[in-house]
Order: sequence, then C-alpha cells, then structure tokens
Amino acid sequence: MKTVTTDIVIIGAGLAGLYTALNIDSKKRIDIIVKEDLSDTNSRLAQGGIAGELDINKDLIKGHFDDTLTAGCYINNKEAVKVLVEEASFNIKNLINLKVAFDKDSEGNLLLTREGGHSKNRILHAGGDSTGKGIMKALRDACSLRDNIHLHENTMALDLVFNKEQCSGVFALSKSNRVIKYLAKSTVIATGGIGNIYGSTTNSTSATGDGISIASRADVEIEDMEFIQFHPTAFYNKETMHRQKFLITEALRGEGAYLRNSEGERFMEKYDERLELAPRDVVSQAIYREMYDTWADNVYLDTTHMDKETLERRFPTIFKHLLQYGFKLGEDLIPVSPVQHFTIGGVKTDLHGKTSLSNLYACGECASSGVHGANRLASNSLLECIVFGNRIAQDINHKPDSIISNGTAYNKFPSRNYDFTPMKRKLGQIMDEYVGIVRSEEGLTFAIQEVDKLHLSLTQYPNKNKFYYEALNMVEAAILIIKGALHRTVSIGCHYRIN
Ligand code: SIN
Repeated sequence: MKTVTTDIVIIGAGLAGLYTALNIDSKKRIDIIVKEDLSDTNSRLAQGGIAGELDINKDLIKGHFDDTLTAGCYINNKEAVKVLVEEASFNIKNLINLKVAFDKDSEGNLLLTREGGHSKNRILHAGGDSTGKGIMKALRDACSLRDNIHLHENTMALDLVFNKEQCSGVFALSKSNRVIKYLAKSTVIATGGIGNIYGSTTNSTSATGDGISIASRADVEIEDMEFIQFHPTAFYNKETMHRQKFLITEALRGEGAYLRNSEGERFMEKYDERLELAPRDVVSQAIYREMYDTWADNVYLDTTHMDKETLERRFPTIFKHLLQYGFKLGEDLIPVSPVQHFTIGGVKTDLHGKTSLSNLYACGECASSGVHGANRLASNSLLECIVFGNRIAQDINHKPDSIISNGTAYNKFPSRNYDFTPMKRKLGQIMDEYVGIVRSEEGLTFAIQEVDKLHLSLTQYPNKNKFYYEALNMVEAAILIIKGALHRTVSIGCHYRIN
C-alpha cells in the first residue's frame, strides 16, 4: 500500500477545507483529498451570501449574536456564537484580501442584504446570487499559488488511521482503486453535509455524509444529527426528478418577494409576525402546513410587484435558470417547495475545531460547533467555515509537533465497481417520508427498521469500492439522524415532532 507522510491531511475542498489550508503556516505540508473534482462542492452552490458585521461595533455584533440565538431557539453554544460573530470581521476582511470580489455600489461601498431571521442587512454577496462561486474561485486561485498545498482530486476518504489515543491520518481510495495511507500529524474533516440521503436536496451530489460517518466509525463523538434544516424555497419542477433541486435564495424574500399558497393567498401572517423573513424552520413548517391544507405539492414565490430589471441584475443566476423553464422573475409566480438544505449537527467540536479524538479536527457543515442551535440563521454557514477554519489553522500552527503513529493496516480491498442507485433511491424515499419536516414516533421507528436492513445488507456486501463506501456513509448518517430524532421527543427549531 502506498503511504504519503505529511503534516496535515484535509478531507474536503469546500470553503472550510481550502480556507483552513490557506491559514496554516506555509512551511507545513498539506494534502487535501477530495472525492470528485474541485467544482463539486456545496460551498460553490451558496447563493445568498455570508453574514457578518465588518464594523467592530459592540451593538452591531450583539445584534448578530442575538439573531443567531433567536433563530437557534436559544440552545446554541453561546461561547461558540460569540466567537462566530466577533471573528466575522477579521475573517471576511481576510477573504477580501484573498481577492473575493463582494458586490459594491457605484461608490465602492459593500452592498448588504438580509435574509430570514436577520433584524438588519448584514449579508455580503458576490456576483449577485453566486456568492459561493465567487469565494471558491478566489480560494482555489490562492491555493494554486501555494507550493505546500497538494490537491488530490478523485480521491475518496475511506476510514481514519487511528488508535485509542489519536488520529494519525486517513486511508483513501485513488481513482485507479488503489488504497493510499495518508499519515499526518493533524487531520481535518471538512466534507460538508448529508443532503443526498434525502430524495430532494439543494446540496451538491458529493454531500453524502462521508466525514460524519467516517468519524462515527472511529467512535468520535457525533451530536445533534436530528437537526436537519429544510430550505423553504427550492424551485419546484415536476419535469426534473433529479435529487438535486435548484435553490432560490432567501435573499429574494430579503429584497421583498412574498410567499403565496396555491389559492393565491399570502399566508405567512398566520404563522409569524416577521412574515416571509421569519427564520427558516418557521417558514418551512408554515409552507408544509399550507401545502397540506390546500392539497398542493408547492407554494409560490411572488416577485410580480418588484422591478424586473433590478431582479435580473441582482439575481442573474436564478433569473437565467428559471427562464429555461419558462418562468420570468418579476412576471410569473415561481413554484417552490421546501427541501433538505443543511446539516446542523455532526462531528462535535470545541472552540478550536478539535473533536473528541486527539489530532482530529472538523470544520464546516460536517462539524457541530454549536453555533446554530436548533436552526441555523441564514448565511451563517459560510461564516462558520472561515471563523472555525482559521481557529483550526491557528491551533495547528501553534501546537508542538507530534509523533505520527503508524496506525492500523487496511484489509478491506477494493474490487469491481457496482452502482448502489436503487439502494440510495430507497433511502431517499424513507428519509423524505418519515424523517422530513414533520416527524412522528411511528414513522421514525419504521424508518430505523428499514434503514437498519439496508445497513445489514451493505455490511454483507463483498466489494469495497468507492460506491460502496458512499452508500455505507449515507446509510450510517441516516441512522444517526433517525436515532437522534427518536431520542429528541420534544419539538424545537427544525426538529418538529407531532408525537
Ligand atoms: C440562501 O441563499 O437562501 C441560502 C443561504 C444559506 O443557506 O444560508
């Protein structure tokens, strides 16, 4: 088996992975492994923006702190939220130094927008509605200028190299099906969320819970997996049965769009005085109720009272995408429905991104830093990646060099490829039906029995290849979510139990 000895191995090349790498001392060797190519990350799909007060003003920062707590139903880790909002300014300015071109007005002032749960405009955006794309391009360019950063695309992390005391890297599978052992003094999991275990998600196809399941197999502490956030407004399109649904940013509601049910009624006043700008859990649950009451599969986003030219300029990606399907912003009602969007829980981390296993860190959506509580405030996710990515980098920069233990051998050899599509489809149906916006004791009990059967059949499957590991990670992540949902019997935030 080939062994690569390095200082740091980072699993995942989204915002959390690349930003962490760029803040690590350039004298240290970093290997970043990513299972697809660099373009396939969730970070790249982020539309709305990144929240944060650039002005270090106590009242402004307190406002961001309060909004984060209110959205999170006050079960957030307050210390982590304090870190998040206080270190936003430094890290967003760092992104600007890395040449991220946030949108500005004609006088050169940064433009700020608002999304659900924010009491004021504090969200920066790039390219109108392609913030993630803008940020990721700048970071990829910056990484390509750094000799100490080695990127390995099409390399799938399989399992951690670890013993009881510490993590010392990761076993990975190359494109040519060879197992490579990356031995590292520090390992960072930055693999994003679990979206594809649901039948419908806004996530990229690479979001299959890999990092969370890999950590869980090494007995690393995982928490709060039941908190799955549903985005209220994915484009509802009967013609495309793809798992990945097109996101329509909440910033559209921030700029004035309304929600209407299938009877044309604006309904949010029945649910929350913040109307369309209530936090995401409230809006998704309200839409679910409206769809149920009106026997409809979707509601509508209404922009017909807004200026068409402004909408086209401000939301160019969405404008173009909808046009392909015959819908025009500013003219037509846009069919939308809530779909899986974000994993709040994950690998439990402290204020420096450290997990329960020594030398193992986690960052971004796969981590549970405690900042989001029971429901994430819009546009705090990109912020979490940079604030905690920088903290992980500083911890690595300042810790004494450790001896890398050689860890275990790997005896699960890869063999021929088999596509687990039917199993993934079944998993998606179970998760959509029983572990969605509304959950019940009976539904969750049925779901765990069915997913346990899928898990059993996987553990008996002889071929350990990339697709096998992806399916295994998805099923194991689903089990963590269902068990968490069964265990938490009281509704809070985006975990809603009817019994
Ligand atoms: C959006 O633009 O609505 C999504 C941003 C986020 O998930 O915070």
